[in-house]
Amino acid sequence: MSIRKFLKMKKKQEKIVMITAYDYFSAKIAEAANVDMILVGDSASNVMLGNNDTIKIGMEEMIIFVKAVKKGAPNTFIIGDMPFLSYQVSDSEAIKNAGLLLKAGADAIKLEGGLNVVPLIKKMVDFGIPVMGHIGFTPQSYKQIGITSKGKTQTEEEVLLNSAKALENSGAFSIVLEMVTEPVAKKISEELAIPTIGIGSGRFCDGQVLVWHDLLGLNNEFEPKFLKKYLNGFELFKEAIENYSSEVKNGKFPEAKHAYKPIEEGSDQKL
Ligand code: KIV
Ligand code: NA
Repeated sequence: MSIRKFLKMKKKQEKIVMITAYDYFSAKIAEAANVDMILVGDSASNVMLGNNDTIKIGMEEMIIFVKAVKKGAPNTFIIGDMPFLSYQVSDSEAIKNAGLLLKAGADAIKLEGGLNVVPLIKKMVDFGIPVMGHIGFTPQSYKQIGITSKGKTQTEEEVLLNSAKALENSGAFSIVLEMVTEPVAKKISEELAIPTIGIGSGRFCDGQVLVWHDLLGLNNEFEPKFLKKYLNGFELFKEAIENYSSEVKNGKFPEAKHAYKPIEEGSDQKL
């Protein structure tokens, strides 16, 4: 049902909003803000676990994050990202791992790749697993391809367009375009019936995604050209903690009203 909703949104040229989340309260906030989709991205490796790439996260961690997000956002479409090595080794392992993300609460899975993952996606879709594709810059292969935008040459444009069409034909319900040059992302979005979700891919994708910590300015180590920070989260959180710290040190917190009293003294015994 929801997958069809996203197709309809594209037809009506309604933009699709996706944000990543990895934990219960973030998911709750995202749902309260009415986003269309939550991606439990393998970017959790960087922003939740402090790793320097997405290679270093596995199924075990992803399942924990998906379960927490499902509890926080029970009524929002959730996509579970397939981590490195969870789908590359064999199709049977891949299908099993995709199933584990669905069991954890995901409504769909996402995996990186073009023509190389088309046969796998066909199988997954055949078995009823909704799949989102991901082309352009694919972080799990940065050791091979480097960290760079894609679609800058005629050859890259053709590869991207062919991959996007093949992913659509394989049954993917949507495709993330990461750091694809704006004209190529526009062309792909126009030529496909399924919605494209852009990150660093310009203005003309059918939807956008940003990483939680990036858009809220919590990640002060990451400032790419494509990012817009909607909050100076790092500074605001730091200031709040500094206030707490100085109030503890100078005896301003806690106050009498924060303290419990003996039964006979206090009428108000709430927690
Ligand atoms: O892991 C992630 O957050 C992603 C998005 C950037 C698309 O894959
Ligand atoms: Na990812």
